[in-house]
Amino acid sequence: MNKAVRKAVIAGNWKMNKTPAETTEIINAMKPLVKDADCSVVLCVPYVDIHAALTAAEGSNIEIGAENCHWEKSGAYTGEISADMLTAMGVKYVITGHSERRQYFGETDITVNKRTLAAVNAGLTAIVCVGETLEQREQGITGELVAMQTKIALGGISKEQLNKIIIAYEPVWAIGTGKTATADQAEEVCAVIRETIAKVYDNEAAEALTIQYGGSMNAANADELVSKVNVDGGLIGGASLKAEDFSIIVKAASK
Ligand code: 13P
Repeated sequence: MNKAVRKAVIAGNWKMNKTPAETTEIINAMKPLVKDADCSVVLCVPYVDIHAALTAAEGSNIEIGAENCHWEKSGAYTGEISADMLTAMGVKYVITGHSERRQYFGETDITVNKRTLAAVNAGLTAIVCVGETLEQREQGITGELVAMQTKIALGGISKEQLNKIIIAYEPVWAIGTGKTATADQAEEVCAVIRETIAKVYDNEAAEALTIQYGGSMNAANADELVSKVNVDGGLIGGASLKAEDFSIIVKAASK
């Protein structure tokens, strides 16, 4: 596998944090710290912060994403936001299938697939999250489970459309717990995801795909995680809310 062909992507997932005013403040602080990044820098923010984020990030190397999107273009879906609405605003990325959505909001592999298809068809890059719970890891089914989640999420996505897909491997037990997967654990599962892509598509597609690790990635452990050959960056929760910490992770991925 050739890491050199892939550009790392460091993406923040702000979850349900920050007001528009706070968004402007953080992005203004981040801009000078990440301006020399040799990786893509993305912030996925709450819907209500998108306008402020886009305005603050204008002219910088920070791109803005959303945290979810609906699969229909429009209609009677109270509380939902379509992929077309996001592209109309200037959003470039969207997270699909985050484990918090699977855990708290009834998201299934099927709805993750529908949202991912809608995102890609609207021209967004989908950051598709997969990952096992602690119970599943202890059962020894991590590889099979993550391969299955990946296959279902990408159903109907052509090889050509894979350049609009990022897979984020996020072990549920490592999210927001301060418990990080070891670099070897992250590498092992990211390699399984890449093998899955090679089987479903081909080696060329697998080599080109960006696969991130997410789960308590921070300024102290990013270096080791992103040094792994199959780990092409990270999806960062808590540490993406702090300009300094996030910029250290960006620097680690720029080496
Ligand atoms: P933490 O970095 O806070 O563990 O969150 C990871 C995550 O869920 C990113 O999507």
